[in-house]
This record gives sequence, structure tokens and C-alpha cells, in this order.
Amino acid sequence: MTATEPETTVEITVDGAAVDAKPGEMLIAACERSGTYIPRFCYHSRMSPVGMCRMCLVEVDTGRGFALQPSCMVPVSEGMKVSTESEAAKKAQDGVLEFLLINHPLDCPVCDKGGECPLQDQTMAYGPGETRFVEEKRHFPKPIAISETVFLDRERCILCDRCTRFADEVAGDALIHFMGRGNHTEVNTFTGEPFASYFSGNTVQICPVGALTAAPYRFKARPWDLTESLSTAWVDSLGSRVAVQASRNRVLRVLGADADAVNWGWLSDKERFGFEALNSEARLPAPKIRAEADSDSREFRRAGWGEALEAVADALRAASPERVAVLGGARLTNEAQYMWAKLAKGVVGTDNVDSQLGDGLDPRLVLGLPRATIDDACRPGGTVLLVGPDPKEELPTLYLRLRHAIVNDGVRLVEVTPHATGLSHLAEHSLRPRPGTTAELVRALVLATDPDVLRSAAMEEPVLGALAAGSKSDRVSELRAALTTAETSFGTDRAGIESAARALSGAQGGLVAVLGRMSLAEPADILDDAARDLSRLPSVRVLPALRRGNAMGALEAGLAPDLVPGRMRLEEVGDGAPLAGCWPRLPASPGLDASGILRAAARGDIDVLVLLGADPLNDFVDRDLAYRGLRGASVVVAVDLFENDSVSLAARIVLPAAGPTECDGTFTNLEGRVSIMSRKVTPPGTARADWMIAADLSERLEPGSTDGLDPPQAIRAELARVSEVHAPLTEEALTQNHLEGVLLAGVGATGEAGGWHGGKEWRRSRRQAAPVTGPAGREDDPEAPAEGLNEGEFLLVATRTMYDDGMMLRHCPSSRDLAAAAAARINPADADRAGVEVGAAVRVVSDFGHIEATLTTDAGVPAGSLRVDWLAPGAPANRLIAAGTDVTVVRVEAW
Ligand code: SF4
Ligand code: SF4
Ligand code: FES
Repeated sequence: MTATEPETTVEITVDGAAVDAKPGEMLIAACERSGTYIPRFCYHSRMSPVGMCRMCLVEVDTGRGFALQPSCMVPVSEGMKVSTESEAAKKAQDGVLEFLLINHPLDCPVCDKGGECPLQDQTMAYGPGETRFVEEKRHFPKPIAISETVFLDRERCILCDRCTRFADEVAGDALIHFMGRGNHTEVNTFTGEPFASYFSGNTVQICPVGALTAAPYRFKARPWDLTESLSTAWVDSLGSRVAVQASRNRVLRVLGADADAVNWGWLSDKERFGFEALNSEARLPAPKIRAEADSDSREFRRAGWGEALEAVADALRAASPERVAVLGGARLTNEAQYMWAKLAKGVVGTDNVDSQLGDGLDPRLVLGLPRATIDDACRPGGTVLLVGPDPKEELPTLYLRLRHAIVNDGVRLVEVTPHATGLSHLAEHSLRPRPGTTAELVRALVLATDPDVLRSAAMEEPVLGALAAGSKSDRVSELRAALTTAETSFGTDRAGIESAARALSGAQGGLVAVLGRMSLAEPADILDDAARDLSRLPSVRVLPALRRGNAMGALEAGLAPDLVPGRMRLEEVGDGAPLAGCWPRLPASPGLDASGILRAAARGDIDVLVLLGADPLNDFVDRDLAYRGLRGASVVVAVDLFENDSVSLAARIVLPAAGPTECDGTFTNLEGRVSIMSRKVTPPGTARADWMIAADLSERLEPGSTDGLDPPQAIRAELARVSEVHAPLTEEALTQNHLEGVLLAGVGATGEAGGWHGGKEWRRSRRQAAPVTGPAGREDDPEAPAEGLNEGEFLLVATRTMYDDGMMLRHCPSSRDLAAAAAARINPADADRAGVEVGAAVRVVSDFGHIEATLTTDAGVPAGSLRVDWLAPGAPANRLIAAGTDVTVVRVEAW
């Protein structure tokens, strides 16, 4: 419907009252909107109706007299009369409940669902009141662990088809099914196969009875013991809305909240069960300090906050600004990010600040390209170009939204990914560039969307006269070159590129590019050229597939080199700018990114290195450089929830931080949508919110610099004052949009966002600012390998998976064993070329290091590539990679 078309309604009568319904709407939904609740079990507004339970029977008259009909299966029609309270309807509801309860166990006192159970509630409201059933009920073994996290109490199941429908329709992994017939029908998994879905927790949330329960919550509390706050999930950049539930100062459950613009109530299991880590005994309870590197004892000793903060302040006072650096910060709330940006840039005066650890995107791309919302990407009839990682692994809830849009709303998907993804089987075109060639493939794709250029390029001579003149003739030559390269270098062919380009040029309902890091074995700037080419497509908008939690908030707050809040470069901040009135000073010149910081630290050029929830040893793309950088910095200060590997290795002063459920603030998701994060419990020990730590340090260094910046609302107000982008972020707007969040200024309109379009030049100058000085015995920028690969050689693809050996997952009891063992995956056609038998334990070796893994075949990996998971237990892929290398050649060796 266009904005000018009048909205049509269908008038129906519900229990004698006239009701306006939407055309096509199901009767149960129309009644609910008008205030008449019809009991139900199987109906779920986000899934297709199946009419399984018959609980929603009401009397409906469409002109032929009243008859009982399931209101979840009947679309409204003009003049329809409905009686939800007639004798017949009541008798039907009573009868359905009596049947459902015949074999239902008397588990209520010990059932997790007790107190929030629709079967309990509806039996009380609509049921028979007493049972006529005196026979022995059915019994089954219970509970059955159908996965690491989900248990099934089969006796309680009412066969409503919600869990099975979710698995099939929404998640697309139908690992849980109805089996048997008639009286023997039961929910089950395939024999010997667990319910190994990334989304299994959603079935627990939508099960209308206590048949499915989740290990982290089972027997932990009763619903009436819980208090609840609306908040935002923190494990990835999608910012799913959640309800955090706690009892006795402990978070016990996280449920998905149904935000129409974001996650529709769904969560990945990592978002849902990740809170377990926050309850871990391993959380840092108090500051600790250890002696200098040349001291006899390197053990940490516990310290008070005053001593620890003064030690950090002393170190910062003693260092000149360009010898101070801050790494990390994407875990923090927007308010904490702003306070740390203010401390580093506005008080200390250093611009060596990077919230991304070499695994993100160029901030100029993220902030400068016309940005799309999730709804833009999922708009019916639209087209999505995915140039990035597998959304199912890195942004699982976005995967659910995209999957729904493709399956149900006619959205077309063209993917350019280094290996098959969770959406590949739904993609109209899948192109697999060989590592290092993404930019060229995207250029060919974009150029080929112009039919004139494509036609002319296909001819021997550019004979299309005017068409081939001027800039078009340049594009014809460019396309010819790109296509020729494609045929010789890519893991795809010319016809594939041309037909994918036709799909893009024919995009009718809008084109959204989901742009993210395809492989961490390739540098981020490989996407600069790809993004520039993508921006030539008419009306394209970009959804940046950032990975880290509040990565977008960090960039918007200025936690990146050459950036200050408001998407401004340092040189753009004039004397009269609002920032100048709030920040005591500004850095003298643009600083270093994560690579530059670690290189400078390795050279001994960094006196104070602050790790702001960062673990470079495991997360930076080059483990060797991370190690040398951490060891090379004079004083390493860590602000974190846990003592991670980098902290253990190098930190001198450790400050314990509050977790995401332990402090108030806001979160900015990948669309630029800001939503509330709520403090639900107190942090362990004396751990403090990150913004408090920054404020305290700022005050010690520059008294008065944080006057009035307490509580977080006050910080938000200053952020909205100094940054035009954050101006819409008022308390009123956040309250009014408490579920959907507030979209930041400049987002969503083509060409409006940011306005930085000179990224290439900026990138060059940044590289010049961070000169490469290789360590003894190793070049940091090794030469690119020859075109051809030698026998037994592969190009490395390193991608994230949902479960890995990351610090948070290590402390989640129900999920920590889900990370897959290290595997080196190659195309089956390469099995002979590997020189080692498939299934054997191998050593994957590059010029920079090696890891141990099992050699496996995977048809989703293109020939010539070898894929490893980023952080498999005991086999971190960053041992194989050197920062700045365009491609990493590896070989496998038996061991
Ligand atoms: Fe009681 Fe509901 Fe549990 Fe059944 S599912 S035992 S009715 S609380
Ligand atoms: Fe319905 Fe729960 Fe049974 Fe699944 S397990 S069919 S959601 S009652
Ligand atoms: Fe209508 Fe189940 S809710 S049949």
C-alpha cells in the first residue's frame, strides 16, 4: 500500500460490538486488538497458524448461521459476527481443556512453568473445574535432555506444534519433529541426533506448557520470585531487545522481547544464555596490581580502588599523550564509551584509540555510507547483497529476519561470501571470491549491472557508439579487465557474475548491501574499494555487519582514531564547536589504529596501554604482534569482567568492571538504533561501571572535567549536546520508544549519513601514520603470494562461529562445550591435493605459525581455500596470520 492509498478496514461484530479489523487478519488477532482475549495454545503471531489445539474455538456467523470455528484459522470478512462467550463456545473450551488434561501430569508444584503457565491459567478461566478421569495417566522417562541446554518432559506436552513449527519455519533447522501417529504422536529429535540448534532456547520460551525447559533456568526460581527489566542483548551488534529477569540479586533468565523493528521476540542461544558468564565465580571482584616486570614477584595482589586508580593516573601523568593508547571499548554502554573517549582524547590528549581489534570495518565506511535499517533489508520484494560473513554464525538474529524475508516476503539474496553460509540454499546467486579478490569481484558485479556496459564489454570492439563514449568506455574497459580476472582468479565464473549483476540491476523493491568482514585472514581495507564500488549502485543502502556488541556506539562516541563524537574528524572540530566547551583539550594529530598501537607498543613507543574489555591475544588478527605489543608496553591497564589471557600475560593494574546487566545505559545497534540497557543486579565485589572508572580517572587528571556527569542520563545529555548525531537522544524519546529504540540522526536516508566519502585517502594517511617495522626475523607486510598455488597449498579463510573459545563462553556452564573442535576444511576436490588423508590430525602451517586441527572436507568451501574457525579451542587462527597481509597461504602437514 502506498502512503496515498486509504487504509481499508473490515467491519466485524465481536460479542455484539462493532470492531474494525485489517483485511486478511486472523480473527483471534482482530479480537485481541479490540480487547477480547480468546484462549489459545498453538497460535503464535510470528508463525503460520495450524489450528492444532482447538482452544480458540468461537462461534462465527458469516451469513449461514453460527458455527464453531478455530479463530486462529479464520480470516476476518466483512459483516462477520463472532460470539466468544456463547454457551457453545464455552462448552467447546471446557471440553478441549478436559481432553488436554486427561494425561497431563500433576506436576505443577515442581514444574518450571507453574505460575506463568497458559494451561494452568486457561484451565482456571475456561476449564471444567474438576476432573472425571480416575485412570492411571501415561508416563514417560523424564526429563529427556534433547540438547546441552534444553530438556523435554514429554508428559506435559500438549502437541501444539509451536516448537516444531519454530524449528522448521523460523530457524530453518527442523531438528525437532512430531513422530508417531494418533495417541502415540510425540515431539522428538531424530534418533541419536541432539536438538543442536543455535536457536533452541526460543522453543522453551514459546512452549505454552512446561514440556521444554532450559538448563540455565530449570528449578532456579518461581515466576513470582522474579523481577524483570527491559534491556538490550549485548553479545553481538544486532541489539536484540530482551527482558532480563532476576531474583535475589542474580540474573536467572533472559527472554526475547518482541521489538517489531529488531528481533521479533527471537534470540540466539548465545544472547539468551550468555548471562551465565555474568554469574561466574571467575568475575573480577576487586582491583589488583602486580609489581613491575623486573620485579621478583609477578603475582597480582589485591588493591583498593583509591590505590589502583591513583596508580593508573600516575602512569598517565608520567606519559606524553602520544605514548598512551586505548584498545577496546565495544563492550561498553554508549555513556561509558563517551566517557572513555573524553578521558583519552579530551583529557589525556591521545588519539591512539581503537575500539575494533583489527576485526571490524573502517569507521569511515561504517559512518559514511547511506545506512539501511533491518526493516529496509527485509522489505517485501527487495534485494539483499550480502558481502560479508555468515549471518547465522555472527549475527544470528539478523539471520532469522533475513531468512523470513527471503522465504515469506519475496526478498532476493545475492551473496558474495568466502564459503557457503546458512542462507546459501536460499540465495538466488552465490559467488565465492578467492581470498584477497573480493574487491575485484564486487567491482565486476557492480559494473555488470549496467546493461549497456555489459553488452559493450561482451563485444569484440566497443562498437556501441555513444554508449561506449566517455566515462562509459572507461567502465567497459574496467569491466572487461575485471571479468577477465574473474575467469582466471576467482572461484566463480563470468556467467555467474553476469546473472548476479542482472539480479542486482533488476532490484525493484530497494537494494540493501549487508557489508562485513568476510574472512579475518584478509585486512579490513580490502572492503574499502568494494564499498566504494557498491555505492555506485543506484539507491543502495548499507547495513554494516559489525560483530562486536556495541561497536556502532563506540564509533559514534569517537572510540576510533581521528574521530570524535558526532562523526567528525579531529580537524573538523573548530574552536567554537560544542565539543570544545566540554573537552579540556583535543589530540594534536590523528592517532593509530589497533595494528599501529600494537606495533608502536612492540617497538617500546607506548608507555600506557589500556585494554578496555579487550583481549588482543585472542581477538586481534595477529597473535604474534599482539603478544609483542602487550609485552612491549610499559604499563598495561586492564578494565574487564574477567582475567582474560591478555590480562594474565601483561596487565600491571586490573580494574574490575560491571557487566551489561549491572549498569544503566544505552546501546547502539548496527542500524544506529539506540535502546536502553538496564541495571538489574549489583556487580560482584567492588566492581564499578566503566563510565565511573573513566570519570574518576578524568577527575584525578583534570579536576572539574566531569562535573555534573553523573548519572548516565547526565552523560547522555552531554553527548547529545556535543554531537549533532546524538541530538535526538532525549530521555523523552527513549521513554516513548522504549521497545523499538531511537534511530540516530542521519541514518536511513540515502546519502545523508555522515558525509565522509574520502575514505581511501584517509586510509592511506592512516597507514603512513603507522609505519611498518617488522620484528627481528619476520616481515610484517610480507609479499603477496604468486597467482598460482603450489601443490598442497591453500589460501586461508578464517571466520567466526557462534560458539568458540572466547572468554564469555568459557564461563557459560551450559554452552562452553559447544565450541567445535578445530577443523581444517577444504573442498572435496582438493582432498588429493592436500597430501594428507582426510580425517587425519594435521598441522595447518603458514609463514607465521601453525595450529593443530582435523582435516575435513566441506563442499561449501571453494577449491583452493582452507577454512578454519577463528577461535577453536586450542587452535586460535590468529597464530597463522600477520597483520596487513592481503592473503595467507597455508599448507597442511601430518603430525
Ligand atoms: Fe502445571 Fe502447567 Fe506445568 Fe502442566 S505445564 S504441570 S499445568 S505448570
Ligand atoms: Fe507444544 Fe511444548 Fe509440546 Fe512443543 S513441547 S509441541 S511447544 S507443548
Ligand atoms: Fe487456534 Fe490452537 S490457538 S487452534
